[in-house]
Amino acid sequence: MLNVVIFGAPGSGKGTQSELIIKKYGLFHISTGDVLRAEIKNGTELGNTAKGFIEKGQLVPDQLIIDMLANVLDSNPATKDGVIFDGFPRTIPQAEALNEMLKERGTQVSIVVGLDVEESELIDRLLKRGQISGRSDDNYETIKSRLDVYNNQTSPLKAFYIKEGKYADIQGMGTVEEIFARIEKAIDAVK
Ligand code: AP5
Ligand code: MG
Repeated sequence: MLNVVIFGAPGSGKGTQSELIIKKYGLFHISTGDVLRAEIKNGTELGNTAKGFIEKGQLVPDQLIIDMLANVLDSNPATKDGVIFDGFPRTIPQAEALNEMLKERGTQVSIVVGLDVEESELIDRLLKRGQISGRSDDNYETIKSRLDVYNNQTSPLKAFYIKEGKYADIQGMGTVEEIFARIEKAIDAVK
């Protein structure tokens, strides 16, 4: 079974490449950002808590995210056939919890696809998307804090997964198709 973590800074193309990966490999997509935005839209307790963190570009507390993810795994039987995790894990405790959750379910992370994109390109992409996305965090100030949070709290996961022998460093600049071709090569090597 194939479980892919797609990893990278805000705007690195995790959502865009996830769609292509799903099309080719038929995985179940879990984007924690999308799940949180749906919770906000539905006005749930979790959504109301998450809203303030997302608007500031900060991470939602680990335990809330870990419980939310376990709930998505348990309520979607199709996740048993393979998952693409997009935007999760974002901290070492989340990565440890993911290892544990998958182990309990008799499986593990197959590969971490890490998208490497220059910071100026990330800002350009997100500002451009901000003109149409309606996302409360696609404005210059929040983009800056999302990038700081990524650099300080999330990027250490790269070393975590290199140590586990699971990290595939993917050049994330270029066209969507060029980047996907690099990802396919990396996934096919572990499949
Ligand atoms: P999340 O929704 O995960 O957002 P993010 O990580 O900031 O990343 P984005 O979704 O903005 O970018 P992406 O990498 O998916 O790129 P995309 O393909 O869209 O998280 C949002 C918030 O939720 C967090 O800040 C946090 O508060 C909270 N949260 C979520 N998960 C959490 C967790 N695990 N723990 C705690 N808190 C959590 O591409 C971006 C743009 O670029 C698009 O317009 C796209 O069309 C364009 N584009 C893509 N590829 C290319 C290319 N090759 N060339 C040119 N343009 C491109
Ligand atoms: Mg995304």
